[in-house]
Order: sequence, then C-alpha cells, then structure tokens
Amino acid sequence: MINVDKIRADFPILKRQVNGKPLVYFDNAATSQTPQVVIDSIVDYYSNYNANIHRGVHTLSQEATDKYEEARLKIQHHFNAAHAYEIILTAGTTHSINMVAAGFATLLNKGDEIIVSALEHHSNIVPWQMLCEKTGAILKVIPMLIDGSLDMKVYDELVNEKTKLVFCNHVSNALGTVNPIEEIIEKAHQFNAAVLIDGAQATPHIKPDVQALDVDFYVASAHKLCGPTGVGLLYGKQEWLEKLPPYQGGGEMIATVSFEKTTYAGLPHKFEAGTPNICGGIAFGAALDYMNSVGFNNIAKYEEELLNYGTQELLKIAGLKIYGTTAKKTAVISFNVNEIHPYDIGAILDKLGIAVRTGHHCAQPIMDFYKIPGTVRASFSFYNTKEEIDVLVAGLKRAVQMLS
Ligand code: ALA
Repeated sequence: MINVDKIRADFPILKRQVNGKPLVYFDNAATSQTPQVVIDSIVDYYSNYNANIHRGVHTLSQEATDKYEEARLKIQHHFNAAHAYEIILTAGTTHSINMVAAGFATLLNKGDEIIVSALEHHSNIVPWQMLCEKTGAILKVIPMLIDGSLDMKVYDELVNEKTKLVFCNHVSNALGTVNPIEEIIEKAHQFNAAVLIDGAQATPHIKPDVQALDVDFYVASAHKLCGPTGVGLLYGKQEWLEKLPPYQGGGEMIATVSFEKTTYAGLPHKFEAGTPNICGGIAFGAALDYMNSVGFNNIAKYEEELLNYGTQELLKIAGLKIYGTTAKKTAVISFNVNEIHPYDIGAILDKLGIAVRTGHHCAQPIMDFYKIPGTVRASFSFYNTKEEIDVLVAGLKRAVQMLS
C-alpha cells in the first residue's frame, strides 16, 4: 500500500510553488523528481569521499570505488542480471543505445535487416538509421494500430533469417503503451536476431528481469526513476558485450597500452573509458534502494488507480481525445482538446502551477500517424494524487474556455 502523504514528504520539490500555486508535477515521463535520500547520497559523496575510482591506493579513492561498485551490484540485482560485469554504467539511455549501434557497425553486412517499432522515441530510431547508412543494412518498421499498440501480425511477417537486430521500447514515452516484449524477443530469437529493449519509460513502473526476458540488451536512465540525470545503464548479455568492440578509447578501458599494440580491459571496463559519473552512479544505486523500499507492486497498483481516475475525469471534458488507449499502459495520458494547439494548453496550465509536456515528445512518427502536431501529455508517478488530477481537470477546463 502507498502512503502518499508519507511519500510526498520525501520529495522536497513537491513543497514548492510555481507561479504562486502549489506545484502539480505531471511531467514524470520526461524526468522524475528526486527524494531526499538520493539528494543526501550526492551531498555525502561530494562532502566526504569525492575521488576518482579504480585508480588510487588512497582511502578516498578506495571508498569511492567501493561505493560505485556497490551501486553496480544494486543495479545488477534490481534487473536480475547474471553478472555484475554485464552492467555497463553509461550517461543514459541514448548513450547506451548509441554504444550498441556503434558496436554493431562492425558486425552487420549490406542487406542485413534490422527492425524497429513505430512507437519509438527518436533515440531509438536515429542511431539505427545512421547504422543502416554506414553498413547498408535495411531498416524495417513494425507498424502501429489506432489504439497505440503494435501490429504484431506484421512483425511476424517482418522477422526472418535476414533479421540481425530488433529494437523496441518496453513502454512508449508518448502514449504509455506497454509493448509485448516477451513475444518480440522470442520471435527474434527463433531467427538468432539480437534484441535491444529501451526501458527508459518502463523502469519507473515495472521491475524488469533481464534473465527471465532472455533479452540481449536492456537500457534505461536513472533520472526516470528518482535518480540523477547523466547516468544510466546498458545491460548486455556477456556473449554480446564480448563480441562488440569498445565504444570509446581512453583510460580505464585498457589492459595494456603501447604504440605497437593496445589490449582492452575485460567487462565492464572495456565500455567505461574515462572518469565516469561516479556520484551519479552511486546516487542511481540509492534511487533503486528508495524505489524498492516503496515496492514496484505498490507503485504499479497505485499508478493504475491514478491512470483510471485521470482517464475517467479527463474524458468528461467535451472535445478531449486521448491517444493511446490499449488496456496495458503505464500512467501516461496523451491528449488534445478539439483543435487547440497543445503548446497553448501547456502554457496556461503552467501559469496554474501544473507541469505537463507538450509537443511531439521526440516521437514524430507517432504524431504523423495520428496526423496531429503533438499532444498534451500528463504522466503520473507514485507521489501524485487524485486531488492533483482534479486540479489538472479544473485547469484544463479554464484553459479550454480561454482558448476556444
Ligand atoms: N524522453 C523523455 C520524454 O518522453 C524526455 O519526455
């Protein structure tokens, strides 16, 4: 059970006012807010043991290294990876995807096929287009249906012996659709294709088990799940991480260096050149501890209540249309009211202290499919309340009145 008052007290930012009104933060799919324990872990690092890791014999360096590697173990356990060295700490989801795309440039041949879904964020489209340009591989797209789900019948026809890679988000950032990734992975594996799942929008709501999913790569960002920006993970199966070349050269990713020949370090260091986001990695671990203390079953149940209530109340507004209506979705409501531009609604809501995202949400193909410039997106988290949804609905009514 969620005790939302107790939870809200953990987040200092939820006490603030915006434009003279109490903040109603409904832009959680863009970034989540940060609880005090995570803020404390950042302050503790810079106040007490700020040092570079894996490099020094001195006490501070040892302490920082221990905490950083402890965070890697927390991430490993959270995602149920078989080995800690299968967890690569990156700058975030986009960085993780680009690391895999760059690696596959050396493994693909002209005419090989890669499949993405129509529901992707630009970060899971553009790197693969760049990869196709480099290698001559061909990009195929699983189309979407009007309810915001994927047309899995077409996927069955697309996947074949030429398919080398399949990419799909676990949850659509623009619509909240939870995709059937188990089925996608299983079918791809029948043809020995590797699968990368973008978990950026799923991980705040769902605890993924990478071994049960049998997924080859799973990527996510800490800042979507109560952690800091600038840090994320690339989970890769050992066999794939060993096949891929390093993404960047530099310190820490080598075994030996000479001008004649350099050899690379083992996993995970082969992919972690340079000084990483040490503090961010440690705070990522603290964020996972916090989320797990709330409990993902509790989070899912509570957010479903918010989603159902929000959907019911928003649909009472005349002319409001929700995009993404599948039964399996996270607490994201993307909508428009009549022909009013989403930006105008967002600007008025902001004046009322309500934060939503407006626009194409870095998912232009979805907007093209619906023939709209964008949507207003309200995305809920476990620290939001039904009362805040009432504030949104009242604000929206006011905005519609002003703009009609
Ligand atoms: N990808 C983030 C979003 O959907 C930024 O808002």
